[in-house]
Amino acid sequence: MIEDLRRVYFTEKEIQTKVKEAAHWLDERFCGKNPLAIGVLKGSVMFFCDLVRAMQTPVQIDFMTASSYGASATSSGTPALAADLSASVEGRDVILAEDIVDSGNTLVAIRDFLTKRGAKSVTVVTLLEKPARRTVNVKPDYFCFEAEDEFIVGYGLDYNQQYRTLPYLAILKREVYEH
Ligand code: IMP
Ligand code: MG
Repeated sequence: MIEDLRRVYFTEKEIQTKVKEAAHWLDERFCGKNPLAIGVLKGSVMFFCDLVRAMQTPVQIDFMTASSYGASATSSGTPALAADLSASVEGRDVILAEDIVDSGNTLVAIRDFLTKRGAKSVTVVTLLEKPARRTVNVKPDYFCFEAEDEFIVGYGLDYNQQYRTLPYLAILKREVYEH
């Protein structure tokens, strides 16, 4: 166990089980359709790759970048979006994969962006949902785990660009980010 981590939050096995359930949920919803799956970089990358590979429905994939944190554990409000989407989202059923919905600002910004660009529907699937910290009125359509008000790292999620490659989710010690 890495010194900065307080404890494992969800194991690799627990994550894989939940990701498969999310993939089945999406398969039922998108059977016979032609959805475009968009991963929000970098945090969702592990979740996204496991999710689309667990789906039976063929999907196209693309990525967007959103960043609001820098080297801090608190979101700075409106995120900067970089959308170098290679495919048009116009008329598309979009599956948006997020790592975590915290204040909800990122989700609102990306959803509005996709809607303005003409997406037919936007279905939001997130690995983690932290409802206690929501400041805007938004909910993911599906979440794998509900998280308490702790800073979570691993399986794509970072603190100051670290810990993303851990195969499990862990709670970061408060003294690491509270100075
Ligand atoms: P929001 O805009 O406040 O909902 O924040 C969303 C983004 O903040 C997520 O996509 C994450 O990149 C980051 N974030 C929020 N909470 C955590 C956490 O506990 N661990 C790691 N990243 C987090
Ligand atoms: Mg992040």
